[in-house]
Amino acid sequence: MKALVLSGGAGTRLRPITHTSAKQLVPVANKPVLFYGLEAIAEAGITDVGIIVGDTAPEIREAVGDGSALGIDVTYIPQDEPRGLAHAVLIARDFLGDDDFVMYLGDNFIVGGISGLVEEFRSERPEAQILLTKVPNPTAFGVAELDDEGRVASLEEKPKEPKSDLALVGVYLFTPAVHEAVRAIEPSWRGELEITHAIQWLIDKQHDVRSTTISGYWKDTGNVTDMLEVNRSVLETLKPSTEGTVDESSEIIGRVRIEPGARVTSSRIVGPVIIGADSVISDSYVGPFTSVSEGCRIEDSEIEYSIVLRGASISGVRRVEASLIGRDVEVTPAPRNPSAHRLVLGDHSKVQISS
Ligand code: DAU
Repeated sequence: MKALVLSGGAGTRLRPITHTSAKQLVPVANKPVLFYGLEAIAEAGITDVGIIVGDTAPEIREAVGDGSALGIDVTYIPQDEPRGLAHAVLIARDFLGDDDFVMYLGDNFIVGGISGLVEEFRSERPEAQILLTKVPNPTAFGVAELDDEGRVASLEEKPKEPKSDLALVGVYLFTPAVHEAVRAIEPSWRGELEITHAIQWLIDKQHDVRSTTISGYWKDTGNVTDMLEVNRSVLETLKPSTEGTVDESSEIIGRVRIEPGARVTSSRIVGPVIIGADSVISDSYVGPFTSVSEGCRIEDSEIEYSIVLRGASISGVRRVEASLIGRDVEVTPAPRNPSAHRLVLGDHSKVQISS
């Protein structure tokens, strides 16, 4: 069995963060979201992994390399434009050959991995197996309608009037039967070859398409609110450790991981919190569910329930909450006189100011 991981696309919804980087590489608890998927694939015993890459290919290649660090063997498959999930299957035909495969969307996060699912598919071997979960906003997803016996009756991509609240999760299992389906379908109104259409084609041709509904936590990490939520849920399971240094006047409470080279002085950290390598926290409070990446500085500040990306600095600011701070960003107080906000914000930034 092989895996096809989709890590192309433009990622406009996480702007401005993904103006400069791939959305699949945004870190959750200081690890790129894509790595959780690749680890889940390795854990399920799959080592042959094709990764679809687009404009952000150089970054993805730099982060994942040949995959050996994650126990997998990676083949990169370039896609010229994000032409749809079924298009990704189409261009991966040579890589996939006649093997069964799991297709995994690189920005999805599935708690508990996929080992159980892969095992079930291997023993039952329907033509396709999809994963569903109840969501409050089905119009933003592919939506499945089940018949009385729980079989998949129909699928619709981003329907205006959804027939259920069961959304497609970004993990799909296929036999080679899907190749005929992706060749048979036409682009949708949004110009993409939709995998939902390919699966609907399989259903219409009486192929065995099964579904598993999961209640565990999952998110398509396409927006900031979701990122903070996924970050929170991963930090809940954080293994505490102190590899950096903490001075005597600091207080560390609960599950906190301080990575090598990080320095904490005169500060209070209330976990779960992760402080990345070579970051400096001084005279500050870092509250629950915060991930600080490597090489950051937090001085004389308070921050909670936030993600701070590589090389950012926050100095003399209280208090930062529910925020996603991009790479190399600087946050400082404005001079007292005149009392004014001074902002240099990238395109599509969002700022909420308490005044
Ligand atoms: O996350 C679950 C949803 O994913 C499903 O409910 C939908 O049925 C499915 O169509 C998909 O919808 P999205 O609109 O959220 O997909 P998105 O464009 O965000 O792409 C998902 C991942 O696949 C993302 O990591 C980018 C990558 N991708 C996407 C396209 C369209 C590619 O690598 N190539 C592509 O052509």
